[in-house]
Amino acid sequence: MHLEKLRLFNFRNFKELEAGFSEGLNVFFGDNAQGKTNLLEAIYFICNLRPMRAAKEQHLILFGEANAYLKGFFSTSSGPVDREVRLSISEKKKVLECGVEKKRFSELFWQIHAVFFSPDDLSLIKGRPAERRRFLDLVISRLKPQYGRYLAEYNRALTQRNMLLKQLKHNRTLVSALEAWDDQISELGVVILKARRAFLEKIEPWIKKYYIYFSRDERPLDVKYVNSAFSEDIPPDSFREAFSDALRKSLPEDLKSGFTRVGPHRDDLNFLLGGRDLRYFGSQGEQRTLCLSLKFAERRIFFELTGISPILLLDDALSELDVNRRRWILEEDQLWQVFVTTSDLNAIPGDVLKRASVYKIKAGTLGR
Ligand SMILES: Nc1ncnc2c1ncn2[C@@H]1O[C@H](COP(=O)(O)OP(=O)(O)O)[C@@H](O)[C@H]1O
Ligand SMILES: [Mg+2]
Repeated sequence: MHLEKLRLFNFRNFKELEAGFSEGLNVFFGDNAQGKTNLLEAIYFICNLRPMRAAKEQHLILFGEANAYLKGFFSTSSGPVDREVRLSISEKKKVLECGVEKKRFSELFWQIHAVFFSPDDLSLIKGRPAERRRFLDLVISRLKPQYGRYLAEYNRALTQRNMLLKQLKHNRTLVSALEAWDDQISELGVVILKARRAFLEKIEPWIKKYYIYFSRDERPLDVKYVNSAFSEDIPPDSFREAFSDALRKSLPEDLKSGFTRVGPHRDDLNFLLGGRDLRYFGSQGEQRTLCLSLKFAERRIFFELTGISPILLLDDALSELDVNRRRWILEEDQLWQVFVTTSDLNAIPGDVLKRASVYKIKAGTLGR
């Protein structure tokens, strides 16, 4: 799958744009604040139908305008697909595929997908556990839309339980109502946990492979899921009971703090290099390499499970990496569509650059 052509209207600092891209490596270069990241964001948005990270959809519309429009022409295994998105300040976005309006976006997930790396993603390694849970949850729900629904239900039940915990401080007679929420939470929690485990089992070998490939580091990399509720040494059949027990055990503390202290909403993912947690002990380069490995592994897993090859968007990924790592990252991908931004073309090895399509971005316009 790849993006052949993109049309933008009033998207961020692009008043109007029409551009065709190559199937392989595309390089956007230019000075700061010209629109390189914005263009990657446009590609991400037309593919995944959600803004990157914290951005709100309204932020995507050119300052002072009421509407924006994007159209992507894709080549997919089932033939050409064009997709339009209409954004407006006052209404929900509209998505059309081959001219037909689509209401259920999850039906579109398996056809077109993009994986984004930006330096902000380093918070995935350096940041709080919530960042790592968010990565897991986003990717899994993309692959299994029903996972997203279970997660939403779990969070609703959790909110209810937490509200009840606060009420119980003043009125202990309500304690019997807890049981129903605990039941729901443990049932849904185990579904979430099992899906995360199954996903990690698949992605972990790829994270390791990419890490070794990019770093040539001999030390073993371990990916560890940290379960806040119980030890996963027990058979999966017993998870539900173990989770119920954990909820019961943590009740006295939960009552004091007014929130539920165990469950998938408190779990974490650790990355250990030679036994040490990269979150605390990794160098900038190691953390960046790990983060890139996660993204490449995400793409690989997507390919294995769906048969489509996601587009890779690398924003400022090359700075802070030595020249070998840059080459390995760009060469891994000869068969896939990749978009890379840089303010310095010298960051890209000459022979790699030769086979790339290079675009200069200047003040929201694009030239060659
Ligand atoms: N909604 C918007 N409308 C117009 N300009 C925007 C909008 N959002 C961001 N910008 C502008 O885009 C520029 C940043 O573009 P960006 O793609 O991040 O640059 P870079 O080339 O450094 O990656 C800034 O000047 C910012 O003001
Ligand atoms: Mg940028």
